[in-house]
Amino acid sequence: MGLQFTPMTTPEPSLYNALGGESSLRALVDRFYDIMDTAPEAAHIRTFHAKNLKQSREKLYLFLSGWVGGPPLYAERYGHPRLRQRHFFFSIGPQERDEWLWCMNKALDESPIAPDLVQSLKVRFSTFADFMRNQEE
Ligand code: HEM
Repeated sequence: MGLQFTPMTTPEPSLYNALGGESSLRALVDRFYDIMDTAPEAAHIRTFHAKNLKQSREKLYLFLSGWVGGPPLYAERYGHPRLRQRHFFFSIGPQERDEWLWCMNKALDESPIAPDLVQSLKVRFSTFADFMRNQEE
């Protein structure tokens, strides 16, 4: 408990609806991985991922659904996400964190999501991505 769970705190359920529910989240995740798949800025973390990003897309969507207060789909299928543990296998320092965030921020900026929601999501993703870091600054 404690620190491990802090960034996972689920906000009010209305955030899921405010974002536009499943279709909107899937669109965000698809754009995120399309960016990671093609941008030179993310080439390094792209090499960590499987060649085919289909499973990554599905899992990030399932996770984010619960993370923004919608149906906890990831937990229903796979149990407690334990995302920090699942990321131990990858060496994540400031560069990797920033590449991941760069993709997500770009996907958010391009999305039709309202600017105030984009801003609060950026703050939450930034905290979460840093929490995933397992290498020193
Ligand atoms: C900070 C830099 C991050 C890096 C470098 C990174 C990298 C990865 C990699 C390489 C995988 C394996 C996927 C595959 O093989 O295709 C993965 C899985 C995953 N990541 Fe990340 N990740 C980062 C941050 C995050 C954050 C902030 C979130 C959530 C907001 C997240 C959510 C997930 C989920 C849900 C999975 C699937 C886990 C599973 O196997 O069940 N990641 N990540």
